[in-house]
Amino acid sequence: MNTDAMKQAAARAALDYTLSRGGGGVVGVGSGSTANHFIDALAAVKGKVDGAVASSEASAERLRGHGIPVVALNQAGELPVYVDGADEATRHLHLIKGGGGALTREKIVAAASKVFVCIADRGKLVGRLGNFPLAVEVIPMAQSLVARELVKLGGLPQLRDGFTTDNGNIILDVRNLDLSEPAKMESAIDHIAGVVASGLFARRPADVLMLGGEGGVETLVLG
Ligand code: A5P
Repeated sequence: MNTDAMKQAAARAALDYTLSRGGGGVVGVGSGSTANHFIDALAAVKGKVDGAVASSEASAERLRGHGIPVVALNQAGELPVYVDGADEATRHLHLIKGGGGALTREKIVAAASKVFVCIADRGKLVGRLGNFPLAVEVIPMAQSLVARELVKLGGLPQLRDGFTTDNGNIILDVRNLDLSEPAKMESAIDHIAGVVASGLFARRPADVLMLGGEGGVETLVLG
């Protein structure tokens, strides 16, 4: 089974989970190749949901392409389920996200959702976060200030060249941070003036992690 098939298997399991929890309402949908599999699976049963809140313009476009109504988060209220991928995940359901640069909206939609279902291929499971560079969305005028503060935290920040987020900001990809206490580092980064959000999801981890692998889909639940 290749990695893409593993992502697809996790996406299908997340769809079954979503529908088993009543489906019906508005579903939160993330960004990236694994979330795209979820969107494509959702298209086949689109009559069973009222619509979707998207965490990126790219996902909104894909949803519309399938004829799935895209709902603004401000119109939706609390979402029953949010389904999204990750770049790294631990057994504590802490995540690194933001490889695609949609981390801030992903964090907002996750915060607005009752259950956050993270879907990934098994290769994303790690013992400790931090091999994948941590994306930090920054207001452009604060780039140098934030970079200096990230260095003080032990990081090696690098501007993601030629990239602008859906919110009109830049991304600093940070290597070398000690993420052994991810919630603490998430708070420390959030407190730097000019930071919009980081791709650490530890204070609000996933609630359910579905990992597609050779032997099927393994489901881990928080707590
Ligand atoms: C988008 O900004 C990211 O958070 C994605 O959810 C993450 O990068 C996972 O992407 P893939 O599903 O493409 O691996």
